[in-house]
Amino acid sequence: MSGFHFPDRFSGKVIVVTGAAQGIGRAVATRAAEEGGTVLFVDRAEFVAEIAAAVDGKAAAFNADLETYEGAGAAMQFAAEIFGHIDILINNVGGAIRMRPYAEFEPQQIDAEIRRSLMPTLYCCHAVIPHLFARGGGAIVNVSSNATRGIHRMPYSAAKGGVNAITQSLAMELADRNIRVVATAPGGTDAPPRRIPRNAAGDNAAEKGWMAEVAQQVTDSSFMKRYATIEEQVAPILFLASDEASYITGSVLPVAGGDLG
Ligand SMILES: NC(=O)c1ccc[n+]([C@@H]2O[C@H](COP(=O)([O-])OP(=O)(O)OC[C@H]3O[C@@H](n4cnc5c(N)ncnc54)[C@H](O)[C@@H]3O)[C@@H](O)[C@H]2O)c1
Repeated sequence: MSGFHFPDRFSGKVIVVTGAAQGIGRAVATRAAEEGGTVLFVDRAEFVAEIAAAVDGKAAAFNADLETYEGAGAAMQFAAEIFGHIDILINNVGGAIRMRPYAEFEPQQIDAEIRRSLMPTLYCCHAVIPHLFARGGGAIVNVSSNATRGIHRMPYSAAKGGVNAITQSLAMELADRNIRVVATAPGGTDAPPRRIPRNAAGDNAAEKGWMAEVAQQVTDSSFMKRYATIEEQVAPILFLASDEASYITGSVLPVAGGDLG
């Protein structure tokens, strides 16, 4: 992978990354392993095993549907069993399934966005806490979004507002247990074509049009008038996960070229 590396930044650390089969999660998990971490790649997609196996470092994979509590609990249990403990959880699963004006959402589509972009973080935070208590501390990094102020993906925006609330409130609760809870709020990010589409049903013509309006709004809202690279999202996530960020907790860092979300 390209980008600046800190060879031993995560040596001795066990890191669980969710949604690690592709995109930002894959890049975060891969770089954490390259920087000395022992990493569990968790994803619903079975091919996450190939991704973890190709990594130059200590890595394993686990299949789970993190939209269920059972999946979240099983993933954390597996990490603790095979690696002995957990130090860091990176909650990356999420992503807007559909782009459409709120009035156009069907009720079950609203629920699906909340299940995808809020529940995995809520469940995984709860499931990891006993493991972090057993370890005597640790860090949780949530991947939020600048979509908390944006058009055409209201249920997703609400879910990410929830992720920001988890970050602030859980940080208050857990500070005296030596656990930091932090987040980044990425803006629009260029990525290779997705092997797993956000919307398994595919986008219809109207949705493609609304997606273009979102891309325009996201670009206009950024001072830099461009999308991020994946590396530009990975670096702040791993900084916040690392001991270099030891006095940062409860913070949501916008990584959106000036857009505060
Ligand atoms: N890409 C962007 O432009 C952008 C912008 C702002 C925020 N974000 C946030 O960054 C994070 C990653 O985005 P991305 O674009 O890299 O994602 P992506 O859609 O490319 O990949 C998501 C991964 O999560 C997995 N996943 C989805 N649902 C799952 C479930 N229920 N259980 C287990 N695994 C599941 C998928 O299989 C996939 O590997 C998301 O939280 C997203 O909201 C992304």
